[in-house]
Amino acid sequence: MPPTTPPHPAPQPEPQPLPPRAPRLTAPALRALKGRRKIAALTAYDAPTAALVDAAGVDVVLVGDSIEMVVYGAPDTLGATVERMVPHARAVSGAVQRALVVGDLPYLSYHTTPEEAVRNAARFVVEGGCRAVKLEGGSARLPMIEAILGAEIPVMGHLGLTPQSVNALGGFKVQGKRASEGRRILDEARRLSDAGVFALVLECVPAELAARITEAVPVPTIGIGAGAGCDGQILVLHDLIGLAPEGARKPRFVRRYADAGALIREAAAAYVADVRAGTFPSAEESFAADGEGEGPVPLYASREGKR
Ligand code: KIV
Repeated sequence: MPPTTPPHPAPQPEPQPLPPRAPRLTAPALRALKGRRKIAALTAYDAPTAALVDAAGVDVVLVGDSIEMVVYGAPDTLGATVERMVPHARAVSGAVQRALVVGDLPYLSYHTTPEEAVRNAARFVVEGGCRAVKLEGGSARLPMIEAILGAEIPVMGHLGLTPQSVNALGGFKVQGKRASEGRRILDEARRLSDAGVFALVLECVPAELAARITEAVPVPTIGIGAGAGCDGQILVLHDLIGLAPEGARKPRFVRRYADAGALIREAAAAYVADVRAGTFPSAEESFAADGEGEGPVPLYASREGKR
């Protein structure tokens, strides 16, 4: 009998190192981006869109109180509440791997006392999984900002057009066009930065003023309708992708990168036509009662596309 040679083990592929996962951005890391590269921020309000914008490389995902307008269809942001927003924050935080998730404190959740401001900010962190909060306004909000920072929650400021002040401002209008008003906003920006905010949203102010503020403060400015001189930009996702009712007006500062409204309308119309014509569902999209004793039929196609 010839000696048996032990079977040769099949060649094993070399173990590959796991692809490096980008570290999560923290508030201090975002602050440190000032002067190094521009910051890109977007809003998101649910898990699928949050995962998509995160994978696209945005630095900040803001669970904005703009949800009240673009998701709930209200004419302004004033009806947004902590109860309504925290579950959206939780959905977003659970889906984001790299970006800094910031919860936007809604109207009246931080206007009364510092204690109430801390309690509401903490709900965005503890229940919503956010790693920072944003709030609107200048020196009138300093006690609340200091209290929230004292509870170890990073705060992003927001000056210029502060939509929660829409009634006091007399509408959604560009702020700081007059020199005295511009000086006031610059002064507020310095105060917020001195108080310890890690970044500052500047909304709808003249580009020259935003550029001056950007030079004057050591924290990144994130502009929306504030020109190209800011350290970063933020837009509302629904504006960026054109997800709005037909004929809805687009603010001048928005650049529309896609027409999701048309995409949804066309897909829904094609579905309606198929249902009415009886061509949806097909046999492929249906289940057959063909097997005595057949095990449970999975709902989802396997990786090979079989049912
Ligand atoms: O609520 C929001 O989406 C915002 C951004 C526009 C900055 O505050």
